[in-house]
Amino acid sequence: MTIHVKNNIHWVGQRDWEVQDFHGTEYKMTRGTSYNSYLIREEKTVLIDTVDHRFSHQFVQNLEMEIDLKTIDFIVMNHAEEDHSGALTALLEKIPGTPIYCTEAAVDSIVGHYHHPEWNFKIVKTGDSVDIGNGKKLIFIEAPMLHWPDSMMTYMTEDAVLFSNDAFGQHYCDEHLFNDEVDQNELKEQCLRYYANILTPFSSLVTAKIHEVLSFNVPVDMIATSHGIVWRDNPTQIIHQYLEWADSYQEDKITIFYDSMSNNTRMMADAIAQGIHDVDPGVAVKVFNVSKHDKNEILSHTFRSKGLLVGSSTMNNVMMPKIAGMLEEITGLRFKGKKAAAFGSYGWSGGAVDRIHTRLMDAGFETALSLKTKWRPDGNAMRECREHGRQIAKQWALHPLADAPAINQFAKAIAKSDAVDEKTEAKPVASLSEQPQQAAVANNNDAEHDSDCQCMICTVCNWVYDPAIGEPNQEIEPGTPWSDVPEYFLCPECNLGKDVFIAHKV
Ligand code: FEO
Repeated sequence: MTIHVKNNIHWVGQRDWEVQDFHGTEYKMTRGTSYNSYLIREEKTVLIDTVDHRFSHQFVQNLEMEIDLKTIDFIVMNHAEEDHSGALTALLEKIPGTPIYCTEAAVDSIVGHYHHPEWNFKIVKTGDSVDIGNGKKLIFIEAPMLHWPDSMMTYMTEDAVLFSNDAFGQHYCDEHLFNDEVDQNELKEQCLRYYANILTPFSSLVTAKIHEVLSFNVPVDMIATSHGIVWRDNPTQIIHQYLEWADSYQEDKITIFYDSMSNNTRMMADAIAQGIHDVDPGVAVKVFNVSKHDKNEILSHTFRSKGLLVGSSTMNNVMMPKIAGMLEEITGLRFKGKKAAAFGSYGWSGGAVDRIHTRLMDAGFETALSLKTKWRPDGNAMRECREHGRQIAKQWALHPLADAPAINQFAKAIAKSDAVDEKTEAKPVASLSEQPQQAAVANNNDAEHDSDCQCMICTVCNWVYDPAIGEPNQEIEPGTPWSDVPEYFLCPECNLGKDVFIAHKV
């Protein structure tokens, strides 16, 4: 199958709807990908890149249905990674001796992969060009580390198409080829995921290369990437987006990720998140368990964040292995201009938190104070975690914050809240519970509470256990006092246990 791109340029690539892994299993593809190859038929016939090695024979077969392979004058290999050069062996078995235009570093990579030093390589540098007839040229632009040392881009004059290879691409599969034809939210999500997880370490090179290309002052009518869509509608939008992402990008967002042996570090994460929200309701807070959530999504959110909180239980006096792996990956991604802090629960030594703190410093983060909790956090410890979140929110705020009640006044404020008119502003619980749990809190708080009240309140989410009501969903009958509530009881809102509940009293 071919798709017309512009004038005498056709897409002859391969869609891959089912692929899930890239770079081993390190990059999870949530929306497939495509391997884009382009056939240019001017006076010269040129093939730009090939496809992933798993599709090599299908690719050659499709190409043979389109043209006589012997009419291909030369091949441009913008990048040697197997997802683009993978069909070279099958193709050159049919047309041996066909020139391959590529960088010097690409020769090393291609020979290293396919072991054919006899292939007819033509080494090019930035500014070199080849006349393809009809008044058109291909001009080569080296782009080392975007994404390998061998990478380059190829610009076609007159048609003003930039074949950018990995840069400006995304792992995204759609039957449509052009950016204006696909779901814009999906496209943006995949562009950011691709940049955050693959190109972040090379941000300074991205900026320099874009300014170099812009300095040529040539028109760009289309950007034909090697993955995903072709940018034809406002193609420079992705160039400007890359410049923004490459400039120590951050949003007003804090990402928290953790691993937890016994739920204790998770309890801390929840309380810290709520403390942040207490004093800065405008900041976006995302919480992830690295054992359960998509690693690349966590890294994408980290990329978008101004700050990062990393938590781990201590296991054998070190952090949990998945956290260690994440920190290694984050070190490699070389984020800039972000803040970070460590936290975690421990039993008899708190080695994990100290190690996380050191690793965050080594990775270039500006670190804040760490927080450790011994064993399972009790009510006081949960208040301390929540207060820690509040302090973090203040330290990392991007704008002036309105005063919020101190945490040691928090429980009192909750208790008092039922005694005041709902319409008065002296109801801090309302401002502290704009989360979904608000409905449940409100329902339980509808009851009257006096000094003899036997109700218990969850220090994490404010849900109130009222003995008069019980908790029918957990088969706890009305009239069951807190002391008789079984240990398996979990807060219906935040799923934490009895130990995070305190008396609902002034
Ligand atoms: Fe799409 Fe660096 O390969």
